[in-house]
Order: sequence, then C-alpha cells, then structure tokens
Amino acid sequence: MKKIIANLKMNMTSREIKDYLLKLIVKNTHKNQIILCPPCPYLSLAKFLLNDSGIELGAQNISDEDEGAFTGEISGKMVKDCGAEYVVVGHSERKTKFRESARTINKKIKVALKNGLKVILCVGEQLTDKNLDKTKEVLKAQIEDALKGLYENELDNILIAYEPVWAIGTGKTPQPKEVEQSVKYIRQVICEDFSPKSEKIEVLYGGSIDEKNASSFAKVSGVNGLLIGHTSLDVDHLIQISKSV
Ligand code: PGA
Repeated sequence: MKKIIANLKMNMTSREIKDYLLKLIVKNTHKNQIILCPPCPYLSLAKFLLNDSGIELGAQNISDEDEGAFTGEISGKMVKDCGAEYVVVGHSERKTKFRESARTINKKIKVALKNGLKVILCVGEQLTDKNLDKTKEVLKAQIEDALKGLYENELDNILIAYEPVWAIGTGKTPQPKEVEQSVKYIRQVICEDFSPKSEKIEVLYGGSIDEKNASSFAKVSGVNGLLIGHTSLDVDHLIQISKSV
C-alpha cells in the first residue's frame, strides 16, 4: 500500500469540496492510503464528510507559534482539533513565496509533533542546485536543519516528500533513476544523523505527477508514495493515479 497525498493548495469553495469528497469516497478503492490536504477553512467539513471512509486528513500549513497574539495564523492545536492528522511543512511554495526559513520549518515541525500531528516534510533542490551538481548537499542541509533537536523516536511521525522545486507545477520531472538516488540519499542522511533504525522512515516523491507518470515514480525503489498537487484537483485523475500505483 502506497501513501497518496493530495495537496489541493488554495483552491475550491465549500460546495466544490463537498462534491469532491462525496465523489472521492464513492470511487476510492482503498488500495492505497489517501491523505487529503484541503485548505484549512474546510478541514472540519472534510472531517465530517470523510467520517469512517478511511481517507485521512492533512493541513497544508501551521504556525510556528503555539498560540496567542499572532493575527491570521492557524495553530497546530487548531488543525488537530479540526480533524487533521498530518501537516505539510517546508513546501517550496512556503519557502519561496512566504520566505519561510530553515529555523521556521524546524519550529513548525516541533509544534506539529507536540500537538500529535504527523509531519510531511518537503525537501528538494532548485534547478540551479541540480545544474551545479549540488542536489545532495542541498538535501543534507535541508534535512539536518529541519530535524535539528528531534529525538529518534519522533521520526516515527515524520514522512519526507522529495520534491525537486523545478518539478513542482511545471510539467517537468526528474528521471525515475534520479529520484531513486535522491531518496536513497535522504535515508542515508537520516540514518547517519539519527540511527540505522531510521531507515524505516517513509519517503515520497512529488512534482508534476499525473495519471501517465504516477506508476513509474511509485515503482521506484525506496519510494513509499506520491505527493500530488494540481492533478489531484480532479477526483477522476486522483483515482486513476491511485489505481495505477
Ligand atoms: P504539482 O505540485 O503536482 O502540481 O507539481 C506538487 C506539490 O506542490 O507538492
């Protein structure tokens, strides 16, 4: 069974989310574990509709603060309270468009774990890093900064999504062989920094996944699932992906 994470990003109205979920519940084959990440205002609605469907819920973001005078922010406690079990942290859109720093990402992970949320930590190189042959260096720094100060047992609640920044929303993807190498390296860094037991950590691939290429990435050795952005906005496409992997 693979994990299929659907990141709906900042899309849809409550009516559209409702239609989407009702269709997803009917069409889901339970062959894979689907984790749906709707916009935060719809988490409670999604929780209510998903009920015992087996589809899990994730938030796309949380604050790096616990609570208090942080106007406009949404806390880890709140998203957990709304029914989310996961939260995406370190997505490249947060890093580039909202200037999230490595320190913020590390703080968010700690807040998420403290509130009983599982973390989907996104890491990945920019195109310039790739062209300069710096992918490994970048991945190592991102992982070490993000997981700084965590205990070995806390890794049980962390999933890593390898998402090359240049592949997100662009229609471009790496070769499956390149994904295999990066995923293997991610595990190696985690094993070296924590313990050989951390080899069990789940690693997913994300970036321009669609119905045609999903199975070739899901098949890559060491890949435990996929993180899907724009293609997941269409339930039929999401289901096709789930069936194909
Ligand atoms: P994409 O997005 O599938 O649209 O490339 C992936 C992501 O944002 O994680």
